[in-house]
Order: sequence, then C-alpha cells, then structure tokens
Amino acid sequence: MANAEQIKSLIKAHIENDQNRFITLALQIAAIEAKQGHTEFAFEIRDLIDKSKLSKVVKLKPFLNDFGDLILEIVPQVRKVELIVTSEISDKIERILLEYKQSDKLGKYGMKNRRKIMMAGSPGTGKTMTASVIAQELKLPLYIILMDKLVTKFMGETGNKLRQIFELIEEKKGVYFFDEFDTIGGERAKDNDVGEMRRVLNSFLHFIENDKSESLILAATNNISLLDQALFRRFDDIIRYNIPNEIEILKLITNKLSIFKPTFKLEPITKIALGLSHAEITSVCEDAIKDAILHNKNKIEKNKLMKFLEIKRSVYLGN
Ligand SMILES: Nc1ncnc2c1ncn2[C@@H]1O[C@H](COP(=O)(O)OP(=O)(O)OP(=O)(O)O)[C@@H](O)[C@H]1O
Ligand SMILES: [Mg+2]
Repeated sequence: MANAEQIKSLIKAHIENDQNRFITLALQIAAIEAKQGHTEFAFEIRDLIDKSKLSKVVKLKPFLNDFGDLILEIVPQVRKVELIVTSEISDKIERILLEYKQSDKLGKYGMKNRRKIMMAGSPGTGKTMTASVIAQELKLPLYIILMDKLVTKFMGETGNKLRQIFELIEEKKGVYFFDEFDTIGGERAKDNDVGEMRRVLNSFLHFIENDKSESLILAATNNISLLDQALFRRFDDIIRYNIPNEIEILKLITNKLSIFKPTFKLEPITKIALGLSHAEITSVCEDAIKDAILHNKNKIEKNKLMKFLEIKRSVYLGN
C-alpha cells in the first residue's frame, strides 16, 4: 500500500492545485502497487487517472444559459513549464504576460498592453494549451468560444451573438479564446452560403477593433494562409506553432516520462518522433507509462517506447 510520505505528497499536490504532480504521484503509487502484484488496484488507479485526464486542462461547464454550449468556462490548470515551445514562442508569451501585468505602467504613457493575439499552426502543437497557460499565469478565467458552433447553431443571428460575446468580454475580465477561427475568418468561408460568413467576419472585425476591454482576446486557426488579410492588423501579435524539432521532442518526452525515469538515452529516440505533433508524442508517452504499469515495471523500456512511437508514426505519417 501507499506509504505515509506518498499520501502526504498526494494531499499536498491536491491542496496546491498541482494536478500534474498529483497525477505523477498517483501513477507512481500505481507502479509500486503493480510491482507488488496488486494489479487490480493499479488498474483502478490508472482508470481514475484516465477519467480525470478528460477534465485535466479543464473543468468544463456550460456558461450562461444564453450561450448554451457555445462558450465553455475553463478552470486553467496547465503550468508554463509543461508547455514545450520554441524560444520565439515563449518570448512572445512572456511579453503578453509582462505587458498585462504592467498595463497600468504602460497606460501612464498612453501605451496599451498587447492583448489581441492570433495563434496559428498545426493541430496538437499547443494553441489551446497556450491559452490555458496565459489564463493560469494571469489568474484569469478562460472562456473558449466554439466558432463552428456559433455559426451552425445561430445561423442568421451570428452577428448578434458575437455582439453579446463582446459585451461579455467587456464586462467580465478573462481570457477569451476563439477556437476554430477559420470558420469565419477563412477566405473560403466567404463563398459558402448566402453571405452570412462575410457578415459575421465584418462584425468580428468591427467588434475587435472597437474592443477597449481589459480582457485578452485570442484566436486560433490551423491554417493561417486561409485567413482574410483584413484580420491581421486587428491583432497585436501573431504566434505561429509548428510540430516540435528534436530539441523540443527531447524536452517533451523527458517531461512526460519524468517519474518513470528512463535509464537509456532518449536522444536517438527523438528521431523516430520527428514529424509527430506534441499531442501525438504526449499520447505515446502515456501509452508507454500505462504499459509499464500494466507489466509491473517502474521504468520505461526503450524498445517499448520505440515501438509505440513507430506505431504512431505509421498511423499518422504513414511510414
Ligand atoms: N507545445 C506543447 N507542449 C507540451 N504539450 C503539448 C504541446 N502541444 C500539445 N501538447 C499536448 O497535446 C494536447 C493537445 O494540445 P492543444 O489542445 O494545445 O493543441 P492545439 O494546438 O490547440 O490543437 P488543435 O488545433 O487541434 O486545437 C495538450 O493537452 C498537451 O497534452
Ligand atoms: Mg486547440
């Protein structure tokens, strides 16, 4: 059974709201239990963790009846150290944080903090995670606005809904994350339907330009080249995300496997992961951890990790 130190550490992680550490400790306990032959108990712990992961970044709750499930309020729980990005991206994030924290100082000189940010890049590279980190660092609530839902659900009155969202942005200080932004911002969107998208985009341009709130407005897209050019000058900065290079892959895997300290060199393995996104590599690491638990190991095996990476490659990259 878990010893006193482990239980104390678990409680401490819970009180400090350090979800990552909490999961790490729970996995450690599962590994120890599995090693002692308590496989069923180890399984149960793993299942509990799997379920909690669904709400890891987040605790979703539908926000304000008016908006139905169009806006999700999230309790951000991702810490900055977990986000593995290039120095260029982390510098940009730091600048957003610093300017926000010192916006009063900037204001005295008639300057405004940067708070309207476009995030673009492939799926699973950390755009939503960045929104979570920013909210967490600034101790602000995070609201995710699902653009595709906005458009499909409120066809014909999207502009009106958008107005209400911008009223909310003004009233309730927070980080507002417009996800799937190309739904309205894409050039292609213009050609669809009866000009609804064009109108929505024009409304958005109008609202964001006139927004003088203290909230942060983030918009994410997978494909920046599709976006309407008129959008860019409304944003204070653009952050571009890419799949990780070898250095980032190494950091990511090292982070993810930290408790199951691999005893082999990770460097040669990072090559196999080249081409995969952060999200895909994360899920490989989780598979490797689960596998270790299920086989009563407290260390990750090199061959297993390589095998899982190769499987992921063949599924996602076809090689
Ligand atoms: N840069 C990163 N550093 C560490 N982990 C990451 C990173 N990017 C993604 N992940 C992992 O993958 C998960 C999904 O990432 P996220 O939701 O931020 O991707 P995204 O860029 O918003 O993708 P999409 O375009 O599909 O919405 C994260 O919860 C995290 O576990
Ligand atoms: Mg996302």
